[in-house]
Amino acid sequence: MFLQLSTWPEVEAYLKTSTACLIPIGSTEQHGPNGFIGTDALCPQLLAKGIAEETGCLVAPTLSIGMAQHHLGFAGSITLRPTTLIAVVQDVVNSLARHGFDRFYFLNGHGGNIASVTAAFSEIYAESSLGTADSNRQPLMCKLKNWWDVPSVGAISKRRFGGAEGSHATCSEVSLTYYGWPEHQKRVPLSPEIAPTGPIYDAADYRRRFPDGRIGSNPALASVEAGEELYKAAVKELSADYLGFARSGEQPL
Ligand code: NI
Repeated sequence: MFLQLSTWPEVEAYLKTSTACLIPIGSTEQHGPNGFIGTDALCPQLLAKGIAEETGCLVAPTLSIGMAQHHLGFAGSITLRPTTLIAVVQDVVNSLARHGFDRFYFLNGHGGNIASVTAAFSEIYAESSLGTADSNRQPLMCKLKNWWDVPSVGAISKRRFGGAEGSHATCSEVSLTYYGWPEHQKRVPLSPEIAPTGPIYDAADYRRRFPDGRIGSNPALASVEAGEELYKAAVKELSADYLGFARSGEQPL
């Protein structure tokens, strides 16, 4: 069930069956010469569709722009400052909480979001702990799950791509988007085949260290077939993880 394709009476009816929802969150940033700029938003968005089919969960609109300051040396990249992303996550959660949602499962597609989204969760809990939350707001639980962090994805990636997987513009994420949008595949020669690795600082430094945008990967190995295998495995594991969170007997803190 997609929030954007639902009516408000349908959302009210959903809330009688579950107070949990799934929020895909990603980024709009370069992914090398053959990865889509939308990769980090498209991956969780695609997986959310499969998870919704498996679990019946409500999927909120994808938060497609994340914290990607280090990618601004490449055309097309867009960032929110960390403080802006924290505020966006707080406002989205508080808006949905007003309607009765109390469990928020953020399905993440971008490592650069982790620190800010985690900080946003702490801000949300602090509103309760410090007594500054709306007095009508119920206790809330938030979870951040990186889609690539399930064991089956790691195993498939290792078997198919080994040391060419990398950490940015990875073979796995590019494969997943090629599976979702096969008509947009790019076949571009990459040199060197496996990109360099190293630390991440600001945008100018990033471009110097990683001239074509990739880190440690050879996404020329990406394929629709690998993407399909990753999709099926990830949807299965993430659906179980979502349901565990949504149905948890634990009371929110
Ligand atoms: Ni990515």
